[in-house]
Amino acid sequence: MEEKESAPGGGTGPESSEEGSYPPRARRTPRQRRQAAQQLTPGGLAFLVAFFVLVTTGVVWMLAYGGVSPAERARREVEKPIGPLPTGDPPPIAAAGRVIYERNCMSCHGSRLSGGSAPSLRARRYEPSRWTDQDLANVIFAGRGEMPAFKDTLSAGEIAAVVSYIRWEQGMPLPEVPESPPTQTSFHS
Ligand code: HEC
Repeated sequence: MEEKESAPGGGTGPESSEEGSYPPRARRTPRQRRQAAQQLTPGGLAFLVAFFVLVTTGVVWMLAYGGVSPAERARREVEKPIGPLPTGDPPPIAAAGRVIYERNCMSCHGSRLSGGSAPSLRARRYEPSRWTDQDLANVIFAGRGEMPAFKDTLSAGEIAAVVSYIRWEQGMPLPEVPESPPTQTSFHS
């Protein structure tokens, strides 16, 4: 019975080439076949390795980044406010800018740049390394989206004063005066 079961089915295919190989391979018993079926094939091994690598990467990612991608982290980082609010009185140019801000900007950008219907201008996104003084002046001058243009309402000097006030509230160095007049052409992305 053993003999019959292990006999090649038709005598073609891999079985026959086995016969041609030297030294000739012994016919496998059903028990050996079952064992072979339980052994890890190269494909199965590759799958296991890939699975292991994937799980390890996921665990390392969770531990290192708290499950948040670096890009998402950077995005959240710029939404955070720059340091604490300054105390005391602003220098004269920023104090003048404060009056202009409270009349023209506060309704949307909130008291002390805290944000409201418009973004908080104390967000890190607007610190000088990302948004230069000129960038600020330009967007105030020209407007953008829901943000109205102030080119007909505020003079270049008034815009410069507002920029000084924004920098003071950010705890950043005040712009060097005189600042070049704002333009509508050069724009921050
Ligand atoms: C009617 C509401 C409103 C008023 C008033 C307003 N803003 Fe804005 N401002 C916005 C909105 C909305 C945005 C976001 C625009 C966008 O990114 O599309 C914005 C954006 C800005 C930006 C950043 C631009 C950007 O692309 O991220 C600055 C700087 C700014 N405003 C300054 C000011 C200053 C200074 C004043 C006053 C002179 C002022 N805004 C008045 C609504 C307003």
